[in-house]
Amino acid sequence: MSKTSRNRIRKAVFPVAGLGTRFLPATKAVPKEMLTVVDRPVIQHVVDEAREAGIEHFVFITGRGKAVIEDHFDIQFELDRTLAERNKTRELEALAKDLPAAGTTSFTRQQAPLGLGHAVWCARDIVGDEPFALLLPDMLHHGSPGAMKGMIEAYEETGGNIVAVYEVPDDQTHQYGIADVGQARGKAGNVFPINAMVEKPARGTAPSNLAISGRYILQPEIFGLLEKQERGAGGEIQLTDSMLTLARQQDFFAYRFDGDIYDCGMKTGFLMANVAYALSRPDIAAAFRADLDALMAKLKG
Ligand code: G1P
Repeated sequence: MSKTSRNRIRKAVFPVAGLGTRFLPATKAVPKEMLTVVDRPVIQHVVDEAREAGIEHFVFITGRGKAVIEDHFDIQFELDRTLAERNKTRELEALAKDLPAAGTTSFTRQQAPLGLGHAVWCARDIVGDEPFALLLPDMLHHGSPGAMKGMIEAYEETGGNIVAVYEVPDDQTHQYGIADVGQARGKAGNVFPINAMVEKPARGTAPSNLAISGRYILQPEIFGLLEKQERGAGGEIQLTDSMLTLARQQDFFAYRFDGDIYDCGMKTGFLMANVAYALSRPDIAAAFRADLDALMAKLKG
């Protein structure tokens, strides 16, 4: 285990350079991370999860056409002034509550679509020599406490590296990184040592149906491995491949998140996230549930 492995997790990396081709035409001019689940952009939900976990610095790996993400995490002066003139105190307070403090965000561009491993490597200078959190915005983890908060608590017991996993149906394993795990460890029984990992195994060859769900705590040694990583599945530089190499030198654990996970990279996952998040919002849940029930009754009738 490296000497830094028990350091506190202060920084989180958010890869947001993806093109969002599965959501065209919605994502022609709007980054997929800015599509809304109820009334918050997907990326805001994921940043909220990191803030709840105590993250202090938010590192975004962006690309061309993603500048609006940076604007979203800044003050909108004209909007604030108009809201103030109209005495919209509640809206102003809500915006202020979401705003990261000055100097706690960093943005860097990936420049070329070479894969998740390359995107993470682009964060090496900003993260530096300390363990960090990595959150993939496509995957919404819905539950309380949030996934990253639970992972950081687990990390305080285990150290090493942690990836969140969840069960997917056998016919979906080829879309994800898959982990094979041993006997449960830790107080809550939701942390497992990892025996093997494979990125997007061919159909019928997955070692388990535990998919890597897009939440990671990684040691900084991953950056040196990513720098030398050859292209893997899909011709891209794969994070999972470098994690496999790191697992030969350091501990790797799987963390099973007990909330619900929505893959917003898929249309159905995105729509389900909207339904689930709306049904858990006290201000709109009752009215929305009544509308949904009426719609379902009409469709069945
Ligand atoms: C990435 C990771 C994969 C993980 C997935 C979760 O794949 O490489 O291991 O299971 O995110 O969404 P991508 O979705 O970028 O193809």
